[in-house]
Amino acid sequence: MVNDGAGTARVVLRRVGVGDEEEFVRLARVSAGSHHPWMSLPVTGEDFRFYLGRFADPLAAEGLLVCVRETGVIAGHISINSIIRGRFQNGSLAYAAFAPSAGRGYMSEGLGLVLRYAFEELRLHRLEAQIQPGNHDSIRLVRRHGFRYEGLAPELLFIDGAWRDHERWAITSGMVEGVAGEPHPTLPVR
Ligand SMILES: CC(C)(COP(=O)(O)OP(=O)(O)OC[C@H]1O[C@@H](n2cnc3c(N)ncnc32)[C@H](O)[C@@H]1OP(=O)(O)O)[C@@H](O)C(=O)NCCC(=O)NCCS
Repeated sequence: MVNDGAGTARVVLRRVGVGDEEEFVRLARVSAGSHHPWMSLPVTGEDFRFYLGRFADPLAAEGLLVCVRETGVIAGHISINSIIRGRFQNGSLAYAAFAPSAGRGYMSEGLGLVLRYAFEELRLHRLEAQIQPGNHDSIRLVRRHGFRYEGLAPELLFIDGAWRDHERWAITSGMVEGVAGEPHPTLPVR
């Protein structure tokens, strides 16, 4: 568990692990249609194990699952990728809802927990989401949490076979009410 397992009334956040392979792959398969063309998740065991490898070094990336508190069902995933310390203290978000649990507010609650975790426990300064201009569901999700639009980055990411323009949406720790915490030890004093 992260956030000491506190979660919200409906969801908790935990790290993805080897034991999630069967459920994750099954959910990714049934969700592939709703994820296309924005995201593709591992739909075989082999791809899942490769995906898990990304999170082998928790200093570089964290793979988190939003789970329904009552049932333990995985509602979606949110990863904090490309964590850079020093003067940046930044992470890059990737997320998707699994179709059976989508559109119920679970991802929104999960993202709220991720913000607390990233800013209070990981002590990052900034989280960024790169979103294609037509991905209205994703833009609504980050807007709801107060992310601000920073501009359009042409040909930023290779998605669905081509380099796609992305909007950059970001939030800094000071933009989240009630976030407390010391700066990370790798932040220079000046
Ligand atoms: C972007 C994405 C993760 C959002 O997931 P989601 O399940 O719609 O998000 P939420 O869990 O926050 O649900 C929000 C919706 O549930 C509704 N809802 C229903 N019951 C609710 C409740 N009890 N509490 C809050 N919201 C509720 C909200 O009204 C909201 O609808 P709206 O967006 O039309 O206003 C999802 O659309 C997705 O996986 N997209 C494909 C992958 C993708 O694009 N990833 C991001 C790439 S940048």
